[in-house]
Amino acid sequence: MGSGIVQVSAQAGFSVLFVEANDELVKRGLGRLRDTLEGLTAKGKLEAKARDEALGRIAGTTKLEDLKACDLVIEAMTENQALKNETFATLDRIAAPHALLASNTSSCNVTALAAVTRRPARVLGMHFFNPVPLMKLVEVVRTILTEDAAVQTATEFVRAVGKVPVQAKDATAFIVNRLLVPYLLDAVRVYEGGLASLDDIDQAMKLGCGYPMGPFTLLDLVGLDTAMYVAEVMFEEFREPRYAPPPLLKRMVMAGHLGRKTGRGFYTYDTK
Ligand code: 3HC
Repeated sequence: MGSGIVQVSAQAGFSVLFVEANDELVKRGLGRLRDTLEGLTAKGKLEAKARDEALGRIAGTTKLEDLKACDLVIEAMTENQALKNETFATLDRIAAPHALLASNTSSCNVTALAAVTRRPARVLGMHFFNPVPLMKLVEVVRTILTEDAAVQTATEFVRAVGKVPVQAKDATAFIVNRLLVPYLLDAVRVYEGGLASLDDIDQAMKLGCGYPMGPFTLLDLVGLDTAMYVAEVMFEEFREPRYAPPPLLKRMVMAGHLGRKTGRGFYTYDTK
């Protein structure tokens, strides 16, 4: 998702600096963005000049300190509250006092992120959807500590990158995942119970409800580990059985079948 956020921001005219864990990942990230934008040009969807300008606005680094000149930092790390808390505390020391610190989290506690900083009024959630360049929605998530001006700026940024903002409170899973995750978990349960085949469940929900993807295609896209993590956090928060990850989902994650990113989830993919 980080790569998608970089792409849409650079295409919208913002200078973007992304941080990766090591040089190899920086190189890979830049290569992937170049391939994506070149692919769009080859398809006639992006002019060569716009492609080159967008690529010229993107830089990568491995040092969080390099973010000190940024006005907005969007964190898109793995869904791990402790890791995010630690990162926000560090970012707070690095970023300019006026800078907004946002998280692309789908399930972590944004209030907890705000609380580890000295700028809780300028910490909020900006939840994009997968795949970022194609999905129009961003949930702008405010905590009880977020100031109106920060929400306003984040909302303007979302519109500037061509997305549609909706506002939600910092309550676990916000709007979309609160409704989507129980549906995905139920799909796994009915498959596990032997109701129908994967293909038929996917086909049924696509053609019967007009959804763009069936639940298993979507789980593979989102990542089974991400879906399970979100479900666990929701279960922890609400203690309702419908949010508990079903046994099959847990075992697939244990087996490393995480979806498209590992080449195998409910379906298999050509990793090339
Ligand atoms: N930038 C710009 N354009 C791109 C692109 C990129 N990086 N990658 C692909 N495209 C273009 C392609 O060139 C293609 O254009 P073309 O049709 O002119 O050739 C177009 O986008 C997509 O074409 P596809 O045929 O692959 O796409 P579909 O029409 O099948 O739509 C989809 C794909 C938008 C992913 C649709 O299937 C969909 O909406 N699926 C549901 C996704 C969803 O529900 N996401 C939410 C997941 S939940 C989540 O993210 C929350 C998280 O916190 C867990």
